[in-house]
Amino acid sequence: MPGSSRLPVSLRETLNARKGSVRGQIVALNLDVLRNIIFVLFLLRWTRKLYYQLKGRGITGSVADVYNYTRRSFYGIFLRLPGVRTKVQTQVAETILKLERKLVPSGPGVERTVTLPAQGWSEEQVRKALDDLAGLEHTRWEDGRVSGAVYHGGAELLKLQTEAYGKFAVSNPLHPDVFPGVRKMEAEVVAMVLGLFNAPDGAVGVTTSGGTESILMAVLSARNKAYSERGVTEPEIILPETAHTAFRKAANYFKIKVHLVTCNAPSYKVHLASISRLITPNTVLLVGSAPNFPHGIIDDISGLSRLAHKRKIPLHVDCCLGSFIIPLLPKAGFDFEPFDFKLKGVTSISCDTHKYGFAPKGNSTVLYRSDSYRKYQYFIDPNWSGGVYASPSIAGSRPGALIAGCWASLVKQGESGYIEACHKIVGTMKKIETAIREKPELASDLKIIGRPLVSVVAFLSNTIDIYDIADGMNEKGWHLNALQNPPAIHIAVTLPIVAAADALIADLIQVTEDVREADRKRIAEGKGAKGAVKGDTAALYGVAGSLPNKSVVVDLAKGFLDTLYKA
Ligand SMILES: *Cc1c(COP(=O)(O)O)cnc(C)c1O
Ligand SMILES: *[C@@H]1O[C@H](CO)[C@@H](O)[C@H](O)[C@H]1NC(C)=O
Ligand SMILES: *[C@@H]1O[C@H](CO)[C@@H](O)[C@H](O)[C@H]1NC(C)=O
Ligand SMILES: *[C@@H]1O[C@H](CO)[C@@H](O)[C@H](O)[C@H]1NC(C)=O
Ligand SMILES: *[C@@H]1O[C@H](CO)[C@@H](O)[C@H](O)[C@H]1NC(C)=O
Repeated sequence: MPGSSRLPVSLRETLNARKGSVRGQIVALNLDVLRNIIFVLFLLRWTRKLYYQLKGRGITGSVADVYNYTRRSFYGIFLRLPGVRTKVQTQVAETILKLERKLVPSGPGVERTVTLPAQGWSEEQVRKALDDLAGLEHTRWEDGRVSGAVYHGGAELLKLQTEAYGKFAVSNPLHPDVFPGVRKMEAEVVAMVLGLFNAPDGAVGVTTSGGTESILMAVLSARNKAYSERGVTEPEIILPETAHTAFRKAANYFKIKVHLVTCNAPSYKVHLASISRLITPNTVLLVGSAPNFPHGIIDDISGLSRLAHKRKIPLHVDCCLGSFIIPLLPKAGFDFEPFDFKLKGVTSISCDTHKYGFAPKGNSTVLYRSDSYRKYQYFIDPNWSGGVYASPSIAGSRPGALIAGCWASLVKQGESGYIEACHKIVGTMKKIETAIREKPELASDLKIIGRPLVSVVAFLSNTIDIYDIADGMNEKGWHLNALQNPPAIHIAVTLPIVAAADALIADLIQVTEDVREADRKRIAEGKGAKGAVKGDTAALYGVAGSLPNKSVVVDLAKGFLDTLYKA
């Protein structure tokens, strides 16, 4: 600076000092502005959250949420009090031990293989051991004693599936050039299922290892789509509370917030107005079930579709259970409700080939209205040192044998085979429903939930403990599903149950009478409900239902999972 050297030193210093202080002021000002902006953003964020909370749940709903949260927290603290904690822990441990004794065979006669045999066994030895394992004492699904669980299409189909397995035992669709037949069958399975669900031109799908994976994939693709196309970083989904818990699993895995919507009596369908209120710019997916697992009720999919279309949000319809029954209800001559791609708001559908498709376990499909949804579930890595890698779903290597089993089942059954199965299964569901509604011995205490149209019939009781019924049926060798919120049980009719339905109804009448009688006796003796000796189901759900904080139930369930891996 040529001129500056001529200024007196003091002036120069003053000027410099002023420049410094101006800079200081500007910095201070900037900091202030920044602080204010951050504060306003913070306020905006929380106001927005509060606004959506109040809009979605209303004032009473929000107060209830806070109340429930507080109760849960306090009960959690209570559970951790020194005296209580040890007591709870011992009881949990005892219960798990009991469970273990039931599930893990023990005693002198039981042989365990917990180390790799030094010398391989002979073929006969392996066969004999497999026979023994298959013959372990179990609930007789073969005689139709188990609700759901075993969805198979008869002995003949089973034989064909086993053959198909054998032919493709080594195949892996990860390598389509090595196993072209498997690729072809897989694509054809998707095409056949798309056809069943009235898919429009351009609709696509993938196969997965089961309903849960199909749902995980549908949720993932919705989340990724919203992120890519709308920049949603705090995704939310809105679920009917009766929707399969696989959606909550997806939300847990993929960090998505869940809003649950009630499904109230008398229809037990999801409440549409509540869904509408819960929609925010962060909503990535709406969900409906056709039908749901707990009650076998089909949500109002037409209404959901209109809502989804209007608000431009994807809608997934869970037909995992409905699978090959619900699309064939019209052709089998039963009542039905619209649920598939014919409704323009429906963007994805999950359909389990391994439920009423009678394919071997480990098989399901997820269908999308167009590739603009499916592409978001793919995983593609162009960078890996192992080569360019692309896979459609969670698994890497996959069993081609299952694809062959699935394909063989679909083409062997054909539409006529599935319509026939639909007749038998829905017919049996209706038979059980009618018995419970009309036989006075049952109707006096049991009440059907909603109006079931597919394969599941659920019932509750306002007069007796429904879990006592579940336990009573258990004692008679049946395995029915216990439900909660509200307490109820259900029967998912499968082909093996069709032949056993009359026996089931007869036993249900007997058990209901027994429970009624036991209650009457206890009351006559002046003992309240508390005096009752409860079975396993009643004990578990009776306690679980009344707990504000279910951490004890979580501990028990964890113990159960651990038990599964006890050799
Ligand atoms: C069975 C079922 C699923 C999940 O299927 P998995 O094959 O057990 O993973 C999802 N939704 C409904 C309604 C189901 O009944
Ligand atoms: C709160 O708890 C009560 C009873 O425990 C239950 O009926 C209600 O549905 C819960 N409400 C919410 C919002 O979770
Ligand atoms: C429920 O109880 C457990 C165990 O005491 C605790 O860890 C958990 O935080 C509690 N839940 C809530 C919502 O407070
Ligand atoms: C069958 O299951 C396997 C994995 O369990 C899966 O990879 C495959 O895609 C499924 N195939 C069909 C046709 O559903
Ligand atoms: C591959 O590398 C690119 C550039 O480094 C990166 O942006 C991309 O996320 C990588 N893809 C995967 C799947 O890791």
